[in-house]
Amino acid sequence: MEQQTDFLIIGSGISGLSFALKAARLGRVTLITKKQKLDSATNLAQGGIAAVLDPTDSFAAHMQDTLTAGDGLCHPEVVRMVVESGPERIRELMALGVDFQRAEPDHGELDLAREGGHSARRIAHAMDRTGSRIEESLLRQASADPRITILENHLAVDLLIGSKIGLAASTPYSDHCFGAYVFNRDSQQVESWSARVTVLCTGGSGKVYLYTTNPDIATGDGIAMAYRAGARVANLEFVQFHPTCLYHHRTKNFLISEAVRGEGGRLIDRHGHPFMAKYDPRGDLATRDTVARAIDLELKASGDDCVYLDITHQPAAFLIKRFPTIYQTCLGLGIDITKEPIPVVPAAHYMCGGVVSDLQGRSNLENLYVLGETACTGLHGANRLASNSLLEAVVYAQRAWEQCERDWPRLAARQPPPPPPWRAGQAEPLAEAVLISHNWDQIRRLMWNYVGIVRSEKRLNLVQERLQPITAEVERHYRDYLLTPDLIELRNISLVAELIVRCAILRKESRGLHYNIDHPTHDDKNWAKDTVIIK
Ligand code: SIN
Repeated sequence: MEQQTDFLIIGSGISGLSFALKAARLGRVTLITKKQKLDSATNLAQGGIAAVLDPTDSFAAHMQDTLTAGDGLCHPEVVRMVVESGPERIRELMALGVDFQRAEPDHGELDLAREGGHSARRIAHAMDRTGSRIEESLLRQASADPRITILENHLAVDLLIGSKIGLAASTPYSDHCFGAYVFNRDSQQVESWSARVTVLCTGGSGKVYLYTTNPDIATGDGIAMAYRAGARVANLEFVQFHPTCLYHHRTKNFLISEAVRGEGGRLIDRHGHPFMAKYDPRGDLATRDTVARAIDLELKASGDDCVYLDITHQPAAFLIKRFPTIYQTCLGLGIDITKEPIPVVPAAHYMCGGVVSDLQGRSNLENLYVLGETACTGLHGANRLASNSLLEAVVYAQRAWEQCERDWPRLAARQPPPPPPWRAGQAEPLAEAVLISHNWDQIRRLMWNYVGIVRSEKRLNLVQERLQPITAEVERHYRDYLLTPDLIELRNISLVAELIVRCAILRKESRGLHYNIDHPTHDDKNWAKDTVIIK
C-alpha cells in the first residue's frame, strides 16, 4: 500500500513532537511511532532540561561545563548555539503548557536543580516527572492539530533511497531520501510511505545492552536505518552508563535521577563508607563517565552486586515532595528512601554518538533530518552533560524547522517518486520465535560483558568475532522470514552492536565514556576527533 505525506516523522518523543508542531505550518505531517504514543525515552526522563535561567549563571559557564564533560570532543560552535538557544526554547515549552516547578516561597521564578558536572543550578524540572510533563503537553498540542496525523503501531523498516530501490543514477531522487518502508502492526503489512522530508527521531539504543534505563523501544532503529541507507554515523563508542539505576530483582530499568545527588545524595558502599572523593575532587557530583567507572571499580574490588545512594539526611517531607515517583516506586519495592539507602548499579542510558547531523539537523542524505538521541550533532562529545539531551532535542527541532521553511519552495515544487511496493519474495512465516529471542539475548549479554564501562583490546576483538556470525544469521532470517516487529528490531540491534564495536576498536585511546585498559590515556595527537563510519 502506498501512502504520501509532506513530513514523515519517525518517533514520538520530544524531538518528533516538537518538530511536528512546527512543520505543520508548512505541510501535512505524519508522525509514526512503533508502539503507543507514550512509549518514548522522553516520557521516562526524570531530571530535567538544562538552560541558563538564573541571572547569576552564564552562557560561558554552561558552555564550559558541557565542554569539560565532553572531554575534548564537543564541537564548540554547536555548544555555543545550543546553550544560547536554551532559554528561548524553555519559554516556548512553557507557552505550550509545560508546568516547570516554581521556587518557593512565592512560586515566581523557576526552581532550578543541580546535577553532576554542572557548576550552577540550571535544570528546569517538574519534580522527577519532567519528561512525562513535557510529553503530555506536546502530545496534547499535536493531537489537537488537524494537520498532524499520529499513527501508533507503525514501525519503520528501512529508508527509501532512489538508488537502493532501482531508480537510475540520473534521477533526482537517486541519492535522496524520500520516505520509508513501514511495518503496520495492525494489518501486518509493509506500507511504502513517500515524503518530501523524512525525520529520524527514534531515540537511543540502550536495548543493545543487557541492563539499561531505556524503554523497550530503544533499539537503535534510526542509526541502523540511516547507516544502511548510506548516512554517516559517528562516535558510537560513547555509550553513557547512568551511574544510578535501581538494583532490585523486581524492576528492570528504573532510574534514580542524578537530581538525587544534586540534592546531596551520597554514594556509599555496603559498609556505609562514601567512596567518590577517592576518585574525583567533585565527589558525588562528578560527571557520569567518572562516577560510573568508580562504581564499576568498587563493585569489581568488593565483589558486591550493587552500591548504595544515601539521601536519608534530607527531611522526609522534602524527599516525598521532590522525588514523588522515585519515593513511591522504591516504597512499592520495600525501600523507604527517607530511611534507608537505595541499592543502585550503572546501566546503559544514552548514546552520545549517532547519525552525523549539521547545525540544522540535516544528515548527509538529502531530505533526511535526524533529531534527538539518534543524532550526533557535536554537542555531547565523548560524554553528555546531564540534562543537555532534552535541550538538544528542542533546539534542533527548531533549527530543522527553520531550514525546512527556507527550503520549502524547492521541496513543495517536486513530488517524490511513487515508491515501489514492498516485496516479500519467497519469505515464509517465522514459526520458531526462539530464533529471534536467542540472538537478542546473546547480543545483549556480549555487549554488557565485553563492551561495557571498562573495555580491553582482547574483549573488543573477541566480541567482534562473535557478533559476525550472529549478524549474518539475522540477515538470513530477514530475507527468509516474513517481517515481524521482533525481527525488525533484532536486525537493528545486531547492526548497532556491530557498529559500536567497530567504533570502539578504532579509537585507540581512553576518553570520556570510552575507557580501554590497553590505551588508558588520551591520545590527542591522533584521536582528538570523531570516529566517523559510513557503509
Ligand atoms: C537523570 O534524571 O538522572 C537523567 C537525566 C539525563 O539523562 O540527563
